[in-house]
Amino acid sequence: MQQYDVIIIGGYGHIGLPMGIVLADTDLQVGLYDIDKSKEPLISAGKMPFLEYDSEPILQRTIGKTLHLVGDISEVANAKTIVITIGTPLDEYLNPKLRPMFSLAESLLPHLHNDHHIILRSTVYPRTSERLYDFFCKHHLSVHLAFCPERIAQGYAIRELHKLPQIISGFTPEALHLSRTLFERLGQEIVEVEVLEAEMAKLFSNAWRYLQFSIANQFYMMAEENGVDFYRIHHAMTYGYERAQDFPRAGFAAGPCLLKDTMQLSAFHQNNFMLGHSAMLINEGLPAFIVNQLLEQYDLKQETVGILGMAFKANVDDIRDSLSYKLGKLLRFHGANVLYTDEFAQDPTFISKEELVRRSSIVVVGVPHSNYRGLEIPEHVHLVDIWGFFKK
Ligand SMILES: NC(=O)c1ccc[n+]([C@@H]2O[C@H](COP(=O)([O-])OP(=O)(O)OC[C@H]3O[C@@H](n4cnc5c(N)ncnc54)[C@H](O)[C@@H]3O)[C@@H](O)[C@H]2O)c1
Repeated sequence: MQQYDVIIIGGYGHIGLPMGIVLADTDLQVGLYDIDKSKEPLISAGKMPFLEYDSEPILQRTIGKTLHLVGDISEVANAKTIVITIGTPLDEYLNPKLRPMFSLAESLLPHLHNDHHIILRSTVYPRTSERLYDFFCKHHLSVHLAFCPERIAQGYAIRELHKLPQIISGFTPEALHLSRTLFERLGQEIVEVEVLEAEMAKLFSNAWRYLQFSIANQFYMMAEENGVDFYRIHHAMTYGYERAQDFPRAGFAAGPCLLKDTMQLSAFHQNNFMLGHSAMLINEGLPAFIVNQLLEQYDLKQETVGILGMAFKANVDDIRDSLSYKLGKLLRFHGANVLYTDEFAQDPTFISKEELVRRSSIVVVGVPHSNYRGLEIPEHVHLVDIWGFFKK
């Protein structure tokens, strides 16, 4: 019977799979368990189901040796450590959905034993870890539960897992000791805090980024509405001026984490997170701002609008919660003919970037993939470039 040092639940996802690969590369015996069986043929053939830089060579050298696909959840009984990396979504009213995590905990129960080490790696609504710990205690299981948040930037996990200090927290000294021992294998510093502090540190980090983007987006809209070039101001503000170096460029602040985690924090604070809500209105309002500006100049029913880039951020293939789609929907609502392209995400309806530029009267940069650099946009095409990408 295969024994595992670690089994990752949610192991085929954007967090679970890179983590599994990296740990397996340190010679631990790692199992990946996931309910999405559709990714198994690819992963077992050494192919990544999504773009994650530098991961495939490591996947290929570990799969079947130190990295294994686990068919049944009961196998967690043979693992010293269980790492949970399942999604932690919001519901349609922007409240955290706790059911998936607690359903998983229920399905783990028959296979757990006292002294099992469980690491919660998903980003959670504050105090979820404590509720889970209470749940296990109620079922007379003295497991060593830890919360150790993931902070990588999607697409760069392989590099960043070896670069970022790891935050650890836990409910027992053994949970802390075992988590420290595991993450020390990645060769970085360990930052030990209380569980609630770790949960909030993760949410504060994402909300902080989301707020920063919203400030740039708000300033972008102010400048545009006054006929001023935002990027000339951006340059003037940041050039040689250290205190403004972290002022971001404008652009769609999207994807599966930033808005979700800002709203988790808001729900935690009885919806009294005005800055977070304002950031949401600004960031989510950017597609409508673009469309309204175009409507002032064009009858969109007569126009073909090409959206350059559909992924939620540059140089990845992930379209989850991408604002390019929101933009596309709004444009169609106003009668425009809308074309999509992307360099990484696959969709049979997408066309090449060159064809998109050729067929469009208006081009909007949805996301600034690096290889749009050098793309010729003819003078007669109206370019909307919130990112300032073609100005760099
Ligand atoms: N994507 C990021 O950049 C990022 C960064 C830091 C933290 N996080 C957090 O990590 C968590 C996972 O995010 P993700 O982007 O990897 O999501 P994902 O959807 O890519 O991966 C989650 C995986 O969990 C699987 N899963 C769901 N329920 C399961 C269950 N009951 N049993 C087994 N497998 C199950 C899904 O099939 C999926 O493969 C979230 O809490 C997210 O907020 C994500």
